[in-house]
Parts: sequence; C-alpha cells; structure tokens
Amino acid sequence: MTAAYEYETHDYDVVVVGAGGAGLRATLGMAEQGLRTACVTKVFPTRSHTVAAQGGIAASLSNMGPDNWQWHMYDTVKGSDWLGDTDAMEYLAREAPKAVYELEHYGVPFSRTEEGKIYQRPFGGHTTEFGEGPAVQRTCAAADRTGHAILHTLYGQSLKNNAEFYIEYFAIDLLMSEDGQCQGVLCWKLDDGTFHVFNAKMTVLATGGYGRAYFSATSAHTCTGDGGGMVARAGLALQDMEFVQFHPTGIYGSGCLITEGARGEGGFLTNSEGERFMERYAPQYKDLAPRDYVSRSMTMEIREGRGVGEEGDHIHLNLSHLPAEALAERLPGISESARIFAGVDVTKEPIPVLPTVHYNMGGIPTNYWGEVLNPTAEDPNAIVPGLMAAGEAGCASVHGANRLGSNSLIDLVVFGRAASIKAGQVVDKDAAVPQAPVSEIEKAFDRFDARRNAKGTVPTAELRLEMQKTMQADAAVFRTAKTMAEGVEKMTAIAGKMDDLSVSDRSLVWNSDLMETLELDNLMPNALATIVGAESRKESRGAHAHEDYSTRDDENWRVHTISRVDGDKVDLSFRPVVLDPLTTEDEGGISLKKIAPKARTF
Ligand code: FUM
Repeated sequence: MTAAYEYETHDYDVVVVGAGGAGLRATLGMAEQGLRTACVTKVFPTRSHTVAAQGGIAASLSNMGPDNWQWHMYDTVKGSDWLGDTDAMEYLAREAPKAVYELEHYGVPFSRTEEGKIYQRPFGGHTTEFGEGPAVQRTCAAADRTGHAILHTLYGQSLKNNAEFYIEYFAIDLLMSEDGQCQGVLCWKLDDGTFHVFNAKMTVLATGGYGRAYFSATSAHTCTGDGGGMVARAGLALQDMEFVQFHPTGIYGSGCLITEGARGEGGFLTNSEGERFMERYAPQYKDLAPRDYVSRSMTMEIREGRGVGEEGDHIHLNLSHLPAEALAERLPGISESARIFAGVDVTKEPIPVLPTVHYNMGGIPTNYWGEVLNPTAEDPNAIVPGLMAAGEAGCASVHGANRLGSNSLIDLVVFGRAASIKAGQVVDKDAAVPQAPVSEIEKAFDRFDARRNAKGTVPTAELRLEMQKTMQADAAVFRTAKTMAEGVEKMTAIAGKMDDLSVSDRSLVWNSDLMETLELDNLMPNALATIVGAESRKESRGAHAHEDYSTRDDENWRVHTISRVDGDKVDLSFRPVVLDPLTTEDEGGISLKKIAPKARTF
C-alpha cells in the first residue's frame, strides 16, 4: 500500500545535496554561471563537517620553497599506493593552485608569510623531487581552522550569487526515471514536518563521509554516508569502500582531531620509552610519513608493549618544545581542544593520542568531472545521467588506498568546481525541468513510512552501536582473514535486523529518533560494503593492512572494488584503475616512468 503524504514541488536546474566544502563550491560554481541552483542541507551550512578541517589545503604554490604540480601528483599517486585514477590525480594536482587562488580571491583569510603570501606548512607524504627530496611546505593554512575559514567564505559567496538554500532539509531518496536518469530528490523538512520534491536537471551528492559507521571517529555525528545510502537504494554502485583512513592523532578517549599540522609545525610522537619511534619506521620523513604508515607504526608500538598510559594503550604527541607564540599563532584550535578534551596544556605536556577513523577513501564512483559512474563489464566508465557526486561522498578516485593529509580540502574545492564546470556544459538552462515519476516519489515515501512506524524490538541506537563496535573491531588498522570473515558474518546479521527496528516517536517535527533511523539506513550499506570489500581484498595496500597478505599485489589487485548493496547482500565486482594521465610528458605532463608502481617506503 502506498503511504499518503502531501508534498510541495520545486523545480531547479541543479540541486546540490550537502553544504560542506564540496557542496558549497559546487553550488557557488553553478550559481555563478546563472544555473538556478538549490542547495539542500540537513545542518546549517557553516556547521557542515568541513568546518572541523584543521591543518590546511594542499596546492603547489611554491610560497615557501620550490614545488610544482608534478611533484604533488607524484606524492598523490604514491600516497594512494597506486590505486588512484591517474587522470583524476593529474587533474587534482594541476588545478589545485588555481582553486586555492580562487578561494583567496573569494575572501578566505589564509595565514600569511612575512611577504604577505599564503602561508604553507609541511604535511605527511608531501615531498620534493618525486619523493627523493626533503618534505615540502605545500599545505595552505588559515591557522588550524582552515575548513572553518573556507566554509564561511563559500557560503557568503553562494548567497551573493543567488543560490537558494534549503536548510535542515533531510534528503530521503533519489528520484530516478525509468531509464536510469536522476531527476531529483525527495526531502523532509525537519522543523515543520513538510515534504519537498526537488525536480532537477542535475543532482549533486556532496553529503560527506560515513565515519559514524565506526565507534570512534573524528567525524561529526552527522557523517552518516547519506549519499552512499541513497545511491545504494537506487541500485547504483559504491567503490573502494574497504579503504578507511585512521588519522594518527585523535585525542585518546574522545577521538577529537589533533591536526597533522601539529607535526608539520615540528611536533613528534613518542612511546613509553620516550623514543621518537617514527625514526625507525620512516627514516627519511619520520613523523611526516603518510597517515596509513604512521597509524600502523603507532599500533605496532602499542602492540609490542611500548604504549603510554596506565594501560599502555596510546601514544604521546609532543609540542611543548615549540615556542609558545608559534603554538598560539599556528595551532590555537588544537591547543584549546587538547585542554578541553585531554586536560593538557600543550606548552607543558604531551597530548595522549590514538589512531582514529577519519576519512573514507571509497565512495560513489565518479570521473574527474564529478559525473557518477555505473560501471558494467562492457563499460566500466558508464555515466549516470543527471547525477554527480563530489567530496568525501564521491570517489574520483584521487586518494586510492590512502589519502594524503590536506588533499581532502583540495579535493572538495577542485571537484566541487569541476562538477559546476561540467554542469555548465551539459545542463540546458532553457529546457524544461523533468518531473520525477510519481511512482518513485511513492516508493520513497513507503520506505520513510515503514521506518516511521517501525514496531520491531531493536531500538535504533542499540543497532547502531552494534554496527559501530563490529566495524571498529573487524575493519581496523590491521585486519586478518579471520576477523574480516567474522566481520562480514556479524555485519550481515546486523543489517538483517533493520527490519526489526523499533521507532518510538511517530511525529514529523524535530523527530530525532526517526532521523537517526534514516541515517542508520544510510550508514548500513556503507558499512556492509566496507567489510565485504575488505574481506575480499587479498593483499595489503594503503589503509588496508591485511596481516595474512602483507604485501601489495599489483598483478591481481590493482583494481577498484565495486559494491552494489541490497539490504544485507553485497554484490561485488571490479573496475580497472585508470592508468593514463591527461597529458603526456611531451605535453608537459608527468613521465609515466616516474609514476610506475614501486615499493612504497618513506
Ligand atoms: O590533520 C588534519 O588537519 C586533517 C587534514 C586532512 O584530513 O586533510
């Protein structure tokens, strides 16, 4: 039976779902070109999770020393452990300086050098001379509140360009035509319980990651993989979900982020013997090795009995040797976080830290224009008309198996911008807005209504906790065939309990019980695809450290995993990695020899 709900209809050229860095950059780019653009967001734009991004945004501006986009591209390729798509990685590194200068001109208040240039700091895995030279200062920063600065600027600019915002609207489902074109999205307005169909020529998913599939994450509680959930329900694919980044320095206990910029400014990690152990694991770059490397090294120190604290279960991050003025100027935010969440005065004591879930390398597969792919055996790069994804929700794929710190903010703005450039080419402003099929709207309402009236035995919070603890234990920094097989079994059973949920609040206004249930509906396919993808991948690559297969296997596994999730079932297939760059060496591009796979040491 079809649930009867009334709804209001809105017609736009473009609807962007999500108002973090990628969503706002896409919104602004669309609006600047005169496309009628709506941005729907479940939180106020400047409360989107990008606001928590601290250390900075990577671009080879060369403000602090020699640098170029080819070195940035090389580091990204190596950082990805040779799983990123080469065309997209070239696009990212090439466009990065332009995208950052645009931000500067829009008004982002970057920190400055003595000469008034944008200040840049070192970050893990960013080097010179194709990984042979010293660490480079490539990460452009606004103190340690870079995401905050970018978000406020992009929101202001979007308003100035007449983008229309629908704030505290929760996206329920994509509305697809019979022939597979996306025609918009159905939303629930959280503060008055009304429903809204957004018909659009182009829908852009910029909904962020799904860090909250785990128990301890630096991600906000709003990071529930809503785009991935909607895509999975539309029968579309998720890519490379097994690659989950653990940030080395989440505060022990709370998981709150301490930026990698802290090590960029000279901070270092020590074990219970006071040893700077990264010197052993990464002799060249030490504490500025990439995150997967540092997180694994920390975990090994703890496992081997050299963790700090009463239970020997964490590590120390030392900053007290840095001048107090430098801490106040460059790292004021984390100094405050350390005081509030760890009770530590960073000028005097080390911060207790632990690798903490931070970022999803996988997501909705796209090309480097942000167009969503629906890979098939015949056409691995088939495009879903009318649908784009950008930012952490998407997988372009520039991060492959491991993302470099500060390549996330640049991913948001480069690909948010790319999506708007492409939309400017493919969206016909003069054409009529297609109207989403009524049957699709009804289907979305049916699911909504079933969740709203769920009368099972398991409260949402209980099932969510079960999922989070399972993911934390079985899809961790180190993984074994046994833990992952158990994880698949447990997660399949947990996903199977979605139909036994109990929702106690049936109202439509500010119903957090129902909203969290819909968010769990989104988290679940993301989590399931993660553990199934991890279990299938019989190698170690980037963030996927498989203890039974300790090396990378390029012959068999230099491929993207593609997951289609239906309830508690995951259909897994593969998509080739794009190996060709956009330009040849003769055209000024990078030499293929330079980016050929090799052992990944630091
Ligand atoms: O450490 C940080 O500031 C985080 C940056 C990032 O994830 O790119």
